[in-house]
Amino acid sequence: MELNIALLPGDGIGPEVIEQAVKVSNAIAKKFDHKINWSHALTGAAAIDAVGDPYPDETHEICLKSDAILFGAIGHPRFDNDPSAKVRPEQGLLKMRKELGLFANVRPTFTFPSLIDKSPLKKERIDGTDLIFLRELTGGIYFGERGRKDNGNTAYDTCTYSRHEIKRLAIKGFEMAMKRSKKLCCVDKANVLESSRLWRETVQSLEKDYPEVEVSYEFVDAVAMRLVQWPNSYDVLITENLFGDILTDEASVISGSMGLMPSASVGAKTSLYEPIHGSYPQAAGKNIANPLATILSAAMMFEDAFNLKNESKLIRKVVDKSLEKSIVTEDLANGEKCYKTSEVGDWLVKEILK
Ligand code: IPM
Ligand code: MN
Repeated sequence: MELNIALLPGDGIGPEVIEQAVKVSNAIAKKFDHKINWSHALTGAAAIDAVGDPYPDETHEICLKSDAILFGAIGHPRFDNDPSAKVRPEQGLLKMRKELGLFANVRPTFTFPSLIDKSPLKKERIDGTDLIFLRELTGGIYFGERGRKDNGNTAYDTCTYSRHEIKRLAIKGFEMAMKRSKKLCCVDKANVLESSRLWRETVQSLEKDYPEVEVSYEFVDAVAMRLVQWPNSYDVLITENLFGDILTDEASVISGSMGLMPSASVGAKTSLYEPIHGSYPQAAGKNIANPLATILSAAMMFEDAFNLKNESKLIRKVVDKSLEKSIVTEDLANGEKCYKTSEVGDWLVKEILK
């Protein structure tokens, strides 16, 4: 099979972790006799420096022409500490999500048996955790009207959702629940927010189409609490953009390191695969970042974008093996010998080609 993949390394540790995912993907292609055509494109601070736009038109064209997109990370401290910056790397990410119509962000949280003691939570609390957040990604407060008034002394951001936006995400949630344990949780703040009341109303109206799915409705503050008390009581959770942003960071540490969890952003036209961690500028260029979240994102890509299940399974298998054998970067090493980002990639490639 011929796979056309857009490659967007981005900023910070993005290029280093992407390099490992490319090595692993190329090894998979060799083993299973596929041909991958990688098309490199600029995003984030790297693109601002090169062409003054964090998501240039040329990058958009490359993404549209590809079957899938593999993305590293975006962000640079130079912009974080300058609230007056007119162009910011993150704007590139938001523009990309919007223009590519990537409305559903799939963020799983699962545990690795060999890492169960690395979690900040007690083993008995997290054992068996395997949940998926479906975060709405192109609406809500991220894209609502915002501005200043009163001579700049008052600022506002607005959260707007249409029934259509909620429905298309909720349908994905119901479909995902049908393939898993048939449990769906709608996370909102319907006791306060009108937009949340529309979420609840819309999800409720779909219940009759999926009679086998057991739906619960929970407030976001309560979910934030239960997520660390009983994460294994959840399966599929759907929520709006900002709640999903916050809760998925919280959920990601359950596995033991933020450097482990992959994600997919799915739209009608194309889909994008990326680690859920950020650009981690303190580690950039040091060859110490954990590449597994990006490598597992590539595994998600093989399965979801190309329906190549065995390829995906093999990546997951060698990743599990690397963890069992402690071929890990420093975030997971605990005083034991740790490996460099590129060494973890090399080890996985060797295992795949065995
Ligand atoms: C994420 C990130 C982004 C977001 C930032 C970088 C704009 O935190 O993908 O979760 O808030 O969506
Ligand atoms: Mn986030």
